[in-house]
Amino acid sequence: MKLSGEARLAGVLGWPISHSLSPRLHGHWLREYRVDGAYLPLKVEPEKLAEALRGLIALGFRGANVTLPHKERALELCAEVTERAARIGAVNTLVVRDGHLEGDNSDGFGFLENLKERADAWQPEQGPAVVLGAGGAARAILVALLDAGVPEIRLLNRTRSRAESLAEDLGGPIQPLDWGSWERALEGAALLVNTTSLGMQGQPPLDIELDALPRSALVNDIVYVPLETRLLAAARVRGNPVVDGLGMLLHQARPGFESWFGVSPSVTPALRRAVLET
Ligand code: ATR
Repeated sequence: MKLSGEARLAGVLGWPISHSLSPRLHGHWLREYRVDGAYLPLKVEPEKLAEALRGLIALGFRGANVTLPHKERALELCAEVTERAARIGAVNTLVVRDGHLEGDNSDGFGFLENLKERADAWQPEQGPAVVLGAGGAARAILVALLDAGVPEIRLLNRTRSRAESLAEDLGGPIQPLDWGSWERALEGAALLVNTTSLGMQGQPPLDIELDALPRSALVNDIVYVPLETRLLAAARVRGNPVVDGLGMLLHQARPGFESWFGVSPSVTPALRRAVLET
């Protein structure tokens, strides 16, 4: 589709940025919905973030995504932030409104929408959730699970103190447990989520003993390279329903696309294929 002088512009700011799948994802939707617009990878050094954001506004961009390492700093640079972004302490979606930046965080939304799409039998109120990891991704997922009404969250992190401060910070029914206390954590659980980098290509595998996990529990890994991690393969073999991590990436992109380009996009098998293409 040819760009007119009125083309709507957006992009993703990161450092590095070459690995980001967002340009491919939004590019697919721009073509699918025949939008007069473009979405660019924008490589921005951490020291230049404030300048780059002013530049986006000056250039008439509709907004942008922000990824590592800018998500926390970008929140501070927004004139306004949504309640969920403030609680997560990071933004991933920026919208330019009346010459200023509004920041949002759609990671938790993407996480929940992915489970809704691919595991419609799982309901948040069903039972305890087990979350592995206490980094930025865990924070967004915990906020989403709390808001969705999960009755109990068991939070396991290698560095237990990080899990404890996260639990204290967010409030609600989050119980920090020792990394490795699999039996205690998994007993009676309805959901198990890996938010750590373990199992990702180039990282050590996630070694977890699943024996105590009910076979009805849903297992989700937010790692999507590879798509089927060892955790998901092991869970599938014992009969648990499993959901891979790619859908979280696809669904978190929906609110930004709608704000910038004016179309509410769908996550389809064709989109998954386009994003996975090598
Ligand atoms: P992100 O923002 O992507 O969540 P992060 O903040 O760097 O990334 O968090 C990475 C998570 O993976 C953390 O929970 C980390 O545990 P620590 O808090 O103890 O560092 C977890 N992680 C990374 N490598 C790990 C390993 N070898 N064993 C167990 N957990 C690991």
